[in-house]
Amino acid sequence: MINILFAAHSDRWDEYQIPLTKALTATELSFDMRTDFPPEMVDYIVYAPNSALQDFTPYTNCRAVLNLWAGVENIVGNQTLKMPLARMIDRGMTRGMVEWVTGHVMRHHLGMDAHIFGQDGLWRSDIAPLAWDRPVTILGMGALGRACAETLANLEFPVTGWSRTPKNISGVTTFHGENQLERALETAQIVVLLLPLTAETQGMINAHRLAILPKGAVVVNPGRGPLIDNDALLACLNAGHLGHATLDVFHTEPLPAEHAFWHHPKITVTPHIASATRPDSAARVIAENIRRGATGEALLHLVDRRIGY
Ligand SMILES: NC(=O)c1ccc[n+]([C@@H]2O[C@H](COP(=O)([O-])OP(=O)(O)OC[C@H]3O[C@@H](n4cnc5c(N)ncnc54)[C@H](OP(=O)(O)O)[C@@H]3O)[C@@H](O)[C@H]2O)c1
Repeated sequence: MINILFAAHSDRWDEYQIPLTKALTATELSFDMRTDFPPEMVDYIVYAPNSALQDFTPYTNCRAVLNLWAGVENIVGNQTLKMPLARMIDRGMTRGMVEWVTGHVMRHHLGMDAHIFGQDGLWRSDIAPLAWDRPVTILGMGALGRACAETLANLEFPVTGWSRTPKNISGVTTFHGENQLERALETAQIVVLLLPLTAETQGMINAHRLAILPKGAVVVNPGRGPLIDNDALLACLNAGHLGHATLDVFHTEPLPAEHAFWHHPKITVTPHIASATRPDSAARVIAENIRRGATGEALLHLVDRRIGY
């Protein structure tokens, strides 16, 4: 019998209980899944970093913690967590991110705001360039960044991707490492941030890097708020160097009602809704990892705690 502790807010249990039970049943493993167990009985923890469980010390027999979120910055440094940690790569979440990023890139590319907010009786016939004349750079070529890059490349945007290690992605120009970041930024009329938050990426988009972007560039950030130096972003927007910033994630969430971003004419705020884990597809990922653990196979999507993602 495999004992699985579900450690997340109770509303998540309501969403996940049926899909997880179904996906685990399909593995033909014998399991017991609950929201409460004597800690020493637990084999796997299905986990959300905002759950009440923060001290893993009593879970002496736990074989792995299976995160429901893609981002692990709130759990990766937990010194009580000694067992393997897997993050979530979920097909539903990936598709959601591709749709959100594509939608916001297309909004800025086509200049849709001019017509949505500018119906003033003037017949403006400015024609947007075609996608192939609009270079887009995506920082982060992981599960999400790569899927977005491939979709935008299929729409014929010239796409540049940047990551920590080298990549070879058909139709995408790739750069890697800090030394090549400038090359990835200098052509980007639209830059999309899909990096994890780590000690290395925190504050990476600072005044110097924003200044490298071409004049009028748009920043789209569905990654993590602290990737960006907020003061530098505001200064760059106010100075007219940047055209717009569409931000889904923030240093503090929820973004406080009095925050300058809410009212800034060149900032669009979305409330961390770019993409969510989808219970049906995520449950299959969790079940597959538990099946792998039970049969001695390597777990999928393990976090490298040394590098923080
Ligand atoms: N707003 C939302 O709703 C939402 C939803 C889901 C996820 N997210 C955010 O999106 C992030 C990305 O998710 P993912 O699943 O694509 O992550 P991932 O698969 O871990 O990919 C991360 C990418 O960032 C690159 N990277 C990490 N550190 C770097 C550094 N110091 N320099 C250059 N590149 C670096 C990695 O390079 P390598 O490939 O070389 O390792 C990889 O390409 C998550 O961490 C989370 O913060 C947001």
